[in-house]
Amino acid sequence: MKHYTNHSLKELHTFGMDVRAAHLVEYASVDELCALLEKLRGEWKELPYLHIGGGSNLLFASDSYAGVILHSAIVGKEIVLEDEETVHLRVGAGVVWDDLVAYCVSQGWGGMENLSLIPGEVGASAVQNIGAYGVEAKDLIVSVATIEVATGNVRTFTCDECAYGYRQSIFKGELKGKYIVTHVTYRLQKHPVYHLDYGNIRAELERMGGEVSLESVRRAVISIRESKLPDPKVTGNAGSFFMNPVVPRGVMEHIRQDYPHMPFYEVDAEHVKIPAGWMIEQCGWKGRAMGRVAVHDKQALVLVNLGGATGDEVMALSDAVRSDVKEKFGIDIHPEVNFIQ
Ligand code: EPU
Repeated sequence: MKHYTNHSLKELHTFGMDVRAAHLVEYASVDELCALLEKLRGEWKELPYLHIGGGSNLLFASDSYAGVILHSAIVGKEIVLEDEETVHLRVGAGVVWDDLVAYCVSQGWGGMENLSLIPGEVGASAVQNIGAYGVEAKDLIVSVATIEVATGNVRTFTCDECAYGYRQSIFKGELKGKYIVTHVTYRLQKHPVYHLDYGNIRAELERMGGEVSLESVRRAVISIRESKLPDPKVTGNAGSFFMNPVVPRGVMEHIRQDYPHMPFYEVDAEHVKIPAGWMIEQCGWKGRAMGRVAVHDKQALVLVNLGGATGDEVMALSDAVRSDVKEKFGIDIHPEVNFIQ
């Protein structure tokens, strides 16, 4: 177990603020996690704690965190079941997500390629139900192994028990803070089924020569993402800052009377999802700065730290954007990013 005190989180979260944590603890096994949880129940019981992954969905309000930051360094991948069609791969929560995608693509196992280049780690993929280009983590997850914070007991959730929805799971909802993910088991396909109809994947594949393979889909997704999303190593950001609102179909039809070209995605018979980035752009925010923070000029769903910004400045921009979207379209949009006070 690695323990650091008064440690900067600048390199551990993608918004790039120089937040100092009273304690940062990195554990590399389930036993180490259990020992750490005992300490949180004992010596450290007065301190708040926060479990982070790749830090790609976090915004700290101030420049210090007077508690314990936990980070998983549980790594490793193990095939737990294999047949003619599928491979079930059990992966440590601390594995970098995109390293896993690259590995599966290199093995010829399909399923994750549309989720290429999403920042973060395996543990968060199961908590956040990460998604892109028509695929979500829940489509691949077989089960999620966890440790219960209160008892240190192991509990494995089936995919159904995780209650997945759009960027939602039981670990963010009803059981928030109660379980820590240690391993995730994914189902991958030996005969890949491609999902190419979302966004401009097909157009990008054509541009690259038309070949359809796991490698080419991965390259196309990486190329689209790199063209729209800022590199956090250069410009602090947390990917999509807001979730796309899911609204009743009637709301979308009403807005489309004035904006016939508004894009939307089907959710179910009664609901559709409207891209918040489109609405933010219509409000004139795309590329606009407010002090040291701005709405990204290539993708309005992303807020960027232009350098030296505080979490409160980002939230002030978020509030201004939300209020304009509400005024123009009558729709509330909500941050996807976790705001840590
Ligand atoms: N759009 C605009 N203006 C903008 C941004 C988007 O008009 O500034 C329009 C686009 O033209 C398109 C639609 O909105 O018609 C959707 O845009 P895009 O495909 O870029 O995706 P998104 O809905 O804005 C979501 C995810 C992304 C994911 C992409 C691709 C959420 C919160 N975000 O964004 O995930 O990569 O779809 O599947 O669901 C993330 O979560 O950090 C993330 C990057």
